[in-house]
Amino acid sequence: MPDFPKNFIWGVATSAFQIEGAASVDGKGPSIWDDFCRIPGAIADASDGTEACDHYHRWATDLDLIADLGVDAYRFSVSWPRVQPLGSGAFNEAGFAFYERLVDGMLARGLKPYLTLNHWDLPSALQATGGWENRDTVQHFVDYACEVARRLGDRVVSICTHNEPWVIAVLGNEIGNFAPGIKSRAVMLQVAHHLLLSHGLTLTALRAQGCKSELGIVLNLAPIHAATDSAEDRAAARLSDGTGLRWYVDPLIKGCYPADVLGHVGADAPKVLPGDMEKIAQPLDFMGINYYMRSVAGAGVPWDIKSSGREITDMGWEVYPEGLTELLLRLHREYPMPPIFITENGAAFPDEVVDGRVHDVRRQAYIENHIAAVAQAMVQGVRVDGYFVWSLMDNFEWASGYAKRFGIVRVDYDTQQRTLKDSALWYRDFLRQQRVQRLALAA
Ligand code: FCB
Repeated sequence: MPDFPKNFIWGVATSAFQIEGAASVDGKGPSIWDDFCRIPGAIADASDGTEACDHYHRWATDLDLIADLGVDAYRFSVSWPRVQPLGSGAFNEAGFAFYERLVDGMLARGLKPYLTLNHWDLPSALQATGGWENRDTVQHFVDYACEVARRLGDRVVSICTHNEPWVIAVLGNEIGNFAPGIKSRAVMLQVAHHLLLSHGLTLTALRAQGCKSELGIVLNLAPIHAATDSAEDRAAARLSDGTGLRWYVDPLIKGCYPADVLGHVGADAPKVLPGDMEKIAQPLDFMGINYYMRSVAGAGVPWDIKSSGREITDMGWEVYPEGLTELLLRLHREYPMPPIFITENGAAFPDEVVDGRVHDVRRQAYIENHIAAVAQAMVQGVRVDGYFVWSLMDNFEWASGYAKRFGIVRVDYDTQQRTLKDSALWYRDFLRQQRVQRLALAA
């Protein structure tokens, strides 16, 4: 593996709803994920976020664990309904006190805080008035973001507005297998527009109030391959690239929606007010990319994942590390990209504890091969400033519940005991090695 630059940021990532628990403790309001978990059949194992990893109470020892891994940074998210129970109006001091403790705890351990404002847990009160489909939610988000930045902006290195707007829009509002469970393409497109708009307006507002953190957004992106070389399959792949990648990257970087997709969605196109596109396309200090797999699109019967002969994770996701290199090179070629962070990358596999160890060789190989894929892109000229493993520890994997384990640290949900898996031990050794190289580079 080539040497990484000495200021490259290595980290681990989590999100509030997936680990915190304490769902209605200390004044936290409900989020759409609390509500969604109550719908029979919505979550594979009928679980919810009431306790999760109990991180709300175990944050200090969890931070010790993170520091022990030797990472530079920890990517976490703020639960909007914890700090503003209704999503507008009064803020909850106890909620902010938690994030103050958390951020100060990171700094005390030499960890750089990378904060995400929206990792999907919209306050329920805002969904009651239409959620992200309602343009009023945009201003509420900006107000919430400004308050978070006022309280924590002096200490967090980085602020990300939204995690994976495509997932919120498409899984949450078109397919409906994620909260809030709406099934409408028109709603999906309006939601996506309001997410993008609130992102841009937040950057403008935070810069106006003097926030010094690096500001950006996190997208889930993948190269999209055609199932076959037929003209139909290639057209399907191009459209899928349009709705999945260009629909987000084009407005953010170029200030416009892709014309081919606009033509395709016709009357479902979002309502865009004059000036919106300029507001969206604010300069980004960084773009975060979450990468798990490539995507294969075709016009006919759905592509059979088994046909590639590749390893498949417990999520049913194909392992395809070179797709990350391909994606990074493509973005670099086609867009004037800001510095990139890989803000999530990792894999779910069924783990077992044997004599106190978890030999998760497949997860370790997955992470190692994807780090190598990042390095491949970097030697070919792409600027990548950091890499975060998803996830620090096993957690609530949304509609899949607790059965799918992404952690490099195992969580025993009966006892809340944490055990470093072999992948965590490997990552720790790898980072030690990187530090030795950093010292050598600095000498
Ligand atoms: C991403 C999410 C993250 C986690 C991983 C597996 O889409 O951002 O919360 O669930 O997938």
